Amino acid sequence: MIVEILDTYEKMSDRAAEILKEAVNSNPAIVLGLPTGSSPVGMYKRICDDYQRGELDLSQATTFNLDEYIGLSPEHEQSYHHFMATHLFDCVNLRAENIHLPHASGEEKKAACEGYEQKIQKAGGIDLQILGIGRNGHIGFNEPGNPFESRTHVVKLHRETREVNARFFDSLEEVPEYSMTMGIKTIMRSKRILLLATGEKKCEAIRKTLYGPITPDFPASVLQLHPDCRILVDKAAGQLLEMNSGTMAV
Ligand code: F6R
Repeated sequence: MIVEILDTYEKMSDRAAEILKEAVNSNPAIVLGLPTGSSPVGMYKRICDDYQRGELDLSQATTFNLDEYIGLSPEHEQSYHHFMATHLFDCVNLRAENIHLPHASGEEKKAACEGYEQKIQKAGGIDLQILGIGRNGHIGFNEPGNPFESRTHVVKLHRETREVNARFFDSLEEVPEYSMTMGIKTIMRSKRILLLATGEKKCEAIRKTLYGPITPDFPASVLQLHPDCRILVDKAAGQLLEMNSGTMAV
């Protein structure tokens, strides 16, 4: 794994956008895996700005989002559909038919999960998967204990994850209990992975991701096994690492 420690969230976002932009420019028909959450907001902002300046063309790109709550309509303000529309899809030239987000309801959940996997495979697999990380090591919504072999599936969110995400809702009760997420195996099959982490609250998670035992009890530890994984952290999230600035291979 390659780790880059950037001074601030702003610099981390600049670097993430630069990597994403280079990847799109060298392969316009790229298949991207995308996260929601606070970590990628700055990167998406820069991608939108680059598009507005005419420096980026996403018309041939395809996207697959990592996860989505179950039980919220795509129009719900806290749905990941809504998040992505606000932060990226409404301001760039991705084609609607090339945008994919998990969506499951009613009795059709298993078929929806299998269908999502098939769509990823039909698109040729994910070229660049961007990730955030939960304090408990979750990637996507693969909570501790999820098997490394998992593909897209429905998960019951851990209380801690719901509590952290409750900041976006009026109360904890409103945070959905279930989500549909790409599995660890789906993520690990991506050709390249870029993980973003920011703030002191993520420093222990980053330490365990890089140096901890590889175990489903800490899902992000599986990234140690990926052949092309880059982690961008700001100084606060990188404070438990061996270096406090620059780039290092772990
Ligand atoms: C979101 C996702 C989650 C987040 C993680 C970190 O699509 O897959 O794994 O990346 O919860 O969230 P933030 O960036 O808000 O700290």
